[in-house]
Amino acid sequence: MAAGDSGELAGRIAIVTGGATGIGRAITELFSEQGARVVIADIDGEHGEALAAELGERVCYRPTDVGDRADLDALFAFVDSQFGAVDVLVNNAAITGAFSARFLDDDMADFERVMQVNLAGLMYASQQAARRMRDRGGGSIVNLASIAALNPGYAIASYRAAKAGVINFTRSLAIDLGEYGIRVNAIAPGSIPTSMGRVSTEGLNEDQAAAMQAELDEAWLISQPIKRRGTPRDVAQAALFFAGERSAYVTGQVLAVDGGGSAGEAINRTALLARVRAKYFPGEGEEGA
Ligand SMILES: NC(=O)c1ccc[n+]([C@@H]2O[C@H](COP(=O)([O-])OP(=O)(O)OC[C@H]3O[C@@H](n4cnc5c(N)ncnc54)[C@H](O)[C@@H]3O)[C@@H](O)[C@H]2O)c1
Repeated sequence: MAAGDSGELAGRIAIVTGGATGIGRAITELFSEQGARVVIADIDGEHGEALAAELGERVCYRPTDVGDRADLDALFAFVDSQFGAVDVLVNNAAITGAFSARFLDDDMADFERVMQVNLAGLMYASQQAARRMRDRGGGSIVNLASIAALNPGYAIASYRAAKAGVINFTRSLAIDLGEYGIRVNAIAPGSIPTSMGRVSTEGLNEDQAAAMQAELDEAWLISQPIKRRGTPRDVAQAALFFAGERSAYVTGQVLAVDGGGSAGEAINRTALLARVRAKYFPGEGEEGA
């Protein structure tokens, strides 16, 4: 239920980059429910305008490419003129780049764009916000990293590298800015079904696409302790925690919101072995190891 003026973020000014769709949209919604004024900074004008109109006067949309410093300067100038402050910055906007399975096939221009949007843009926005927060006595910066930053893996190497950079940047900035009352934390989501989180089904017919999605869902659930897929709202709850007073004594941390999938590789192996055993010994209890 919406808490509005008595909410956890009542009276706060928040910028959510990439706040028009996906996880950013859920963050915009939750922050607005909790009383914040939210500026959606996104390149997607259609969804940004529509969401601002839907959520009412506390939310506005500002066209912004976070990979472009002039756009970020204009964004902060807008926030200065409209609100005179920024209390919370959520660096959520990111791209994966073209999906090539092998690094040998990656295009350098694509790599550069991923770094520009996911890392350099995030750093520049953080500096702009932090200067304003310092002058006001504090604030909170929340960065969207990824479990792909914690685990090396197959494909999208540039994205993984940029997100790993986000984690070290988060910790370094927390050390640098703590004395000004500015906290900096990161969230590492697991696979969340948004337009980024969905695997392309191009070239498959409807049945094939559905079958592949079902197998992928099953694989995720096998490999994580909590047996449901995560939602954008799950991630937004972590952003709310870092944005507000509940985390007043927390900085430089990375919180995985992944159904426990990163708790340890043994969980995957145990679950997979148990599954094989269950197939051949269906009556066996869990202690059958
Ligand atoms: N979905 C997942 O499975 C997942 C997993 C781990 C981490 N994440 C991270 O969570 C964040 C949100 O991901 P998502 O799944 O909602 O992605 P998404 O692609 O569904 O949405 C991203 C939003 O960012 C906007 N955007 C893209 N480039 C931009 C730019 N240059 N400037 C401003 N806005 C831009 C898009 O218009 C869109 O509204 C990202 O940082 C992503 O890396 C997502």
